[in-house]
Amino acid sequence: MTEFVNFGRTKKMVDKYIKSVNDIDSYAVVGNPIAHSKSPIIHAEFARQTNQNISYEPILAPLDGFEATVRDLIAKGYKGANVTVPFKIEAFNIANRQSIRASAAGAANTLIFKSGDIVIDNTDGIGLINDLQNNLAMSLGGKRILLLGAGGAARGVLFPLLIAQPTQVVIANRNLHKARELVENMAETEVFKGISIPLITSSYRDLNGEYFDVIINATSAGLTGSELPIPDTIFAKNCLAYEMMYGRETPFMVQARGAGAQVADGLGMLVEQAAEAFYSWRGVRPETAPVIEMLRKS
Ligand code: ATR
Repeated sequence: MTEFVNFGRTKKMVDKYIKSVNDIDSYAVVGNPIAHSKSPIIHAEFARQTNQNISYEPILAPLDGFEATVRDLIAKGYKGANVTVPFKIEAFNIANRQSIRASAAGAANTLIFKSGDIVIDNTDGIGLINDLQNNLAMSLGGKRILLLGAGGAARGVLFPLLIAQPTQVVIANRNLHKARELVENMAETEVFKGISIPLITSSYRDLNGEYFDVIINATSAGLTGSELPIPDTIFAKNCLAYEMMYGRETPFMVQARGAGAQVADGLGMLVEQAAEAFYSWRGVRPETAPVIEMLRKS
């Protein structure tokens, strides 16, 4: 302490440094596995761009220790977190408050810690919509959309897709009962209760003779390099085929390209869902295009 009396300027700098360290708001992405996650790079880039003093780190939670990990983050003063596979449904279940889009999805990818409460959101769907509408110039109003798959990924994006007012959304899945369940759940949400929504199910076989303006692959078939049993004829003229995965050319993308569709992967959605989470936490909207470009190059 006496040292600082003689070095008043140094003390000021030290105080400023300590204050700046303390001012850092901490965030994390929680998953298992987590090492592959691009979220830390994306959020570091958003923070740099918008001059936000935050830290953002990947955290591996044990498969049976998601809630304990989150409580630990809260105790340490973290302000929020992203949640990835396989904890999105568990994240939904530990919430004190939830956004409409989280409640419609029954899953959460964004947590906001407020006065000890866990507020949840799901930004996956709006991430997809923003990528489709802003980056890929595909407005969804009045379009026929085919959603392939009825698992967690499909469920996460269905509500915002319907809000974008397409003419119709058809969900096709191998196990048809899962697609039907999704439709029933959607009809039960607060927003759609009592009104008819343009949402139907189909088997893959019954897609013969149908065609769509936008086809979104929300199945995990690409992970195993499996082809989907969809006919080439479903890709309408100027169709946009969207693969929710990124980082590999899946059989779905190959087929869509061969059928003359415009093809996109899920990298844009990844960055857009992160931007929406960043906005919920920080109240500033980062620019996504340069970050998408940077990730594509790397
Ligand atoms: P995610 O959270 O990635 O959506 P999930 O909930 O396990 O994972 O769902 C995987 C989805 O991919 C399901 O719709 C699954 O179809 P079924 O419900 O019929 O199993 C679909 N899927 C996975 N592999 C597939 C394949 N080879 N062909 C068709 N659909 C496949």
